[in-house]
Amino acid sequence: MAEVNNPRKFDKEGLGNVLLVAVSVCLVCSIVVSSAAVMLKPQQQINQELDRKQNILRAAGMLSADSIFDSEGRGVDEIFKRFDVRAVNLETGEYTDSVDVESYDQTKASRVSATSRDLTTSEDIATLGRREHVALVYMLTTEKGALDKLVLPVRGYGLWGTLFGYLAIEGDLQTVAGLAFYTHKETPGLGGEVDNPNWKALWPGVSLFDESGSPAVRLVKTRSPGGSAAAAHEVDALSGATMTSRGVENLVRFWTSELGYGPFLSKLQAGA
Ligand SMILES: Cc1cc2nc3c(=O)[nH]c(=O)nc-3n(C[C@H](O)[C@H](O)[C@H](O)COP(=O)(O)O)c2cc1C
Repeated sequence: MAEVNNPRKFDKEGLGNVLLVAVSVCLVCSIVVSSAAVMLKPQQQINQELDRKQNILRAAGMLSADSIFDSEGRGVDEIFKRFDVRAVNLETGEYTDSVDVESYDQTKASRVSATSRDLTTSEDIATLGRREHVALVYMLTTEKGALDKLVLPVRGYGLWGTLFGYLAIEGDLQTVAGLAFYTHKETPGLGGEVDNPNWKALWPGVSLFDESGSPAVRLVKTRSPGGSAAAAHEVDALSGATMTSRGVENLVRFWTSELGYGPFLSKLQAGA
């Protein structure tokens, strides 16, 4: 029997139908992706916060690189609770309540003209462009209330981009307790060796300031004779990564200078 040609038959390959299916698939996918992004945001924030705490503890030598527990089995949150987090006005070196330490984003503040200052070419040895007015500092005190360790956020340009990390200083405010970067764009095997535990192990004990109180850290290819005044400030440069090494030297010097945490360190030194 001849097939009856029904003009109302559903044409699944027609243009309207193809478009309808494509739009529906896009809509469903976008709803799934947006819902996942919204639902996962709180967890992402928790993870970012945990990561920040881990980086601070690792810089201070209180957590090993491959563990999230210290030698006594304490977790990151528990160890971090011992730190006092304060906001500091970098211009005056005084503590400030002008920002909420829980939510303050120092990197963001450094990009906004109202919350940062421009650096001149001669000032800007770490190639930052701008320096925020307020920084967070992480302080660990002994049971008797003396300063045990101070951890400072630092950053500066290497070869391919800005290295972000933490410089931990001993309670004498002179000796490095550790330096660790949590993000950078340096080449693995060259500048990326800033993450090498063997290189990071060279930092504890390095002396930050010379007798006049000026930043004195140097990354060198050849060390000065052991026991000399210069040797106390030296760390081996990374081989094949002169530019990254210079960047690290410059950023440590910048943040320990008067334009960085210098005024705050002087206030602490004076017992204020
Ligand atoms: C693909 C590539 C990646 C590089 N990555 C880095 C780097 O991350 N950091 C750095 O300082 N130099 C880097 N360099 C630069 C070279 O290693 C350069 O030759 C080096 O600065 C010479 O330094 P040296 O005097 O330490 O041997 C890179 C070069 C190339 C070709």
